[in-house]
Amino acid sequence: MSSNDEKEKLRISRRAFLRTMGIGAAASTAVATGVLQAPLAESAVPPKVEGLDYVPVELKVNGRRYALTIETRRSLADVLRTELELTGTKIGCNQGECGACTVIIDGRAMYSCLLLAVNVQGKNIETIEGLSRGGRLHPLQSAFIEKDAYQCGWCTPGQIMASKALLDKNKNPTLAEVKTAVSGNICRCAAYNHIFEAVLAAAKKL
Ligand code: FES
Ligand code: FES
Repeated sequence: MSSNDEKEKLRISRRAFLRTMGIGAAASTAVATGVLQAPLAESAVPPKVEGLDYVPVELKVNGRRYALTIETRRSLADVLRTELELTGTKIGCNQGECGACTVIIDGRAMYSCLLLAVNVQGKNIETIEGLSRGGRLHPLQSAFIEKDAYQCGWCTPGQIMASKALLDKNKNPTLAEVKTAVSGNICRCAAYNHIFEAVLAAAKKL
């Protein structure tokens, strides 16, 4: 056999080896990640991705009804801000840790970033935009201003909505009850003492 024949034989066996290794690596990755791979003949067909369906949705926000068509995967916080343009509800962490997105659902303070909009149909949703009446601020809003209960203001709508959920049920809360009510709301500017004072002052006005 000539040396050229030997080189060609080596190239072919190397290609065959690499092909075998590639298939083996793909298989072991699939097992490691738990991904069920389609047979090669079917892999050209993109798999159906669950949760990307558009559906008609009706939301009741601040007493007003909104009819929308949205993807089932979208959070309430996202829909409030981008579809309804109610940007008073803020998004901080977007994963249920900071409380910036707090709204009131049927009387309870909840993180709207953790709720799917499709799942809160038929419920009463309150956001910061619904608090003032006829151009007059809610006592909580006035108290936050008077007590200087914010610095950057990003957490403020969430703090106020968490406090409102408390005051709607308890018009005369103790300091400990106020602290508990806003314990799920982080203020990175650390305006906590002013926030507590504001909620107690608003309670007196209510
Ligand atoms: S944005 Fe929802 S908890 Fe942080
Ligand atoms: S005022 Fe800035 S995070 Fe609370």
